[in-house]
Order: sequence, then structure tokens, then C-alpha cells
Amino acid sequence: MVLFHNKSELQIHLKNKCRDAGKIALVPTMGALHKGHLSLVTKGIQENRTVVVSIFINPTQFDKREDLEKYPSTLKKDLELLATVSEKLIVFAPSVSEMYPDEVSTKSYNFDGLEDLMEGSFRKNHFNGVATVVEKLFRIIEPDRAYFGEKDFQQLAIIKKLVKGVNLSVEVIGCPIVREGNGLAMSSRNNRLSKENRAIAGFIYSTLETAKNLFGTKSALYITDWVKKEFLKHSEFSLEYFEIADEVNLRPIKKRQDKIKYRAFIAVYLQEVRLIDNMPVN
Ligand code: PAF
Repeated sequence: MVLFHNKSELQIHLKNKCRDAGKIALVPTMGALHKGHLSLVTKGIQENRTVVVSIFINPTQFDKREDLEKYPSTLKKDLELLATVSEKLIVFAPSVSEMYPDEVSTKSYNFDGLEDLMEGSFRKNHFNGVATVVEKLFRIIEPDRAYFGEKDFQQLAIIKKLVKGVNLSVEVIGCPIVREGNGLAMSSRNNRLSKENRAIAGFIYSTLETAKNLFGTKSALYITDWVKKEFLKHSEFSLEYFEIADEVNLRPIKKRQDKIKYRAFIAVYLQEVRLIDNMPVN
């Protein structure tokens, strides 16, 4: 494994040792790695000659300062975990000043309104921050392919738009959600849950599963209402939103159409930890 903190050194290494040898993949992360990240890395290894994993806690995508402060910084552990997958990985773990040399500022993008829906309506400027850092990473590393988890499905859609909008030739690949035994979608935030709450958090997944089953016979309005009532019955949770939306443009379903693929999206607080999840429903 090779570790770089400096972007020019990484670029020289990629130019001299990797670029001509085959495809380069990037797996962007903020560290605190778990099996979900490892599944992206594994897919990257299967499909490319070189895999770069970036580990950078990006300050511009946090809408709340306390969330940034609480975000775990676990580089040593992350490197150990990555080594269990492959010794050939390249890790890029820059400092904030390396990524934002002039000032820590956020670029403003237009994603045709995608950025204002669901996550965007609750986390102002979040997607501008994500896109700012991902564009920087793409320009530094110039990967052929980049791998993102479907847990952040809206982020994935936005990054696909970003690549088109700023004319980058990166293939953006979405990978299935990896779940804990009880169905809870893997996330670095799960570590902040108590053991008891981590166990009951499987309720989010089982609710999505039932919503999916109901989608065969019931309207989206009925299902949304049912989900809201289910969460009211479980006072440990506080539901932020539940929506069934078009998988491509993420607009909430109005009149169901056979050709369109729909997905249920959810954001929930449990013990002050914000958890998101999603599931295809047809
Ligand atoms: O999904 C994440 O971990 C982050 O949003 C990303 C894509 C690494 C950008 O900081």
C-alpha cells in the first residue's frame, strides 16, 4: 500500500507507474471505513488495474459544525482495514490545506434542482460541498472510473450530473448498499448508536421492505401515510422524510407510470444520529 498526503506526489506516482498500465479507479471516502466501503474497493480492484482510495473529511459538505467535529478520524485503522483487501492500493489522505489551498470555500453548482430535493432540502449547501470536493478529487486523480455507494443515492445522481456538467470523462459507478445483519444500511454513523439502538435500527429497513411490498397494491400517498404512522408508534425514532420518487430525476411520484423505476427514500433520527436509506420499490 502506498500512502500520499501530497497531491503532486500522488500525480507523479500515477503518471510514472499507473496511467499507462491500465484503468485507474477512485473510491472517494471520508474514512471511518466499514464493509460498505470495502465492497466499493473490491469492485474497483476487480474492474481496474489501479485503485486509489481517498480519505478526506471534507469540511464544506457539513451543514452543522458539530457534525464535522464529531466525524471520526481513524486513518490508522482505515489503512489496516484496507490492507486486508489488498496491499496494492494507493491511499490519498490529504490535509484540508492541501485540498483547499487558498480558502475553504464551496463552489456553487446547478444540478437542475436535484440538489434541493430530499437531503438537499434538509442539509443546505451539502451537495455543493460534496460536488466541490469530488470535482477536485477527479481533477487531481483523473480516474477512469469512480465508485460510490447507493446508500447515498441522491449523491450518486448528483455526481453523475456533475461529471456531465463540468465535462469530465469519469465513469461513475453506483454499488449496492451493504447492510448489517438486521438490515441497517452500513454507515460510519452507525458507530455513534448505542448497542440497543443499533439493534432496533433494523426497523428502518423492515419499514422500507413493507413499503416496497405495499407498492404493488397501494398508492404512494397511502404508503407514505402508513410509514409516518409506523414511526409515530416507535418513539425512539423521529422521521424526517419518507418519499417515493422517480429513480432517475428523484422527483416525488405523482401518477405512477409502468416504465418508470421508483425508489423509496427515508431519513430518520435515532438517538440524535441521522440515518438515511433507500430501496427500489418496483
Ligand atoms: O460519501 C462520502 O463519503 C462523501 O460524500 C464523499 C463522496 C467522499 C465526498 O466527500
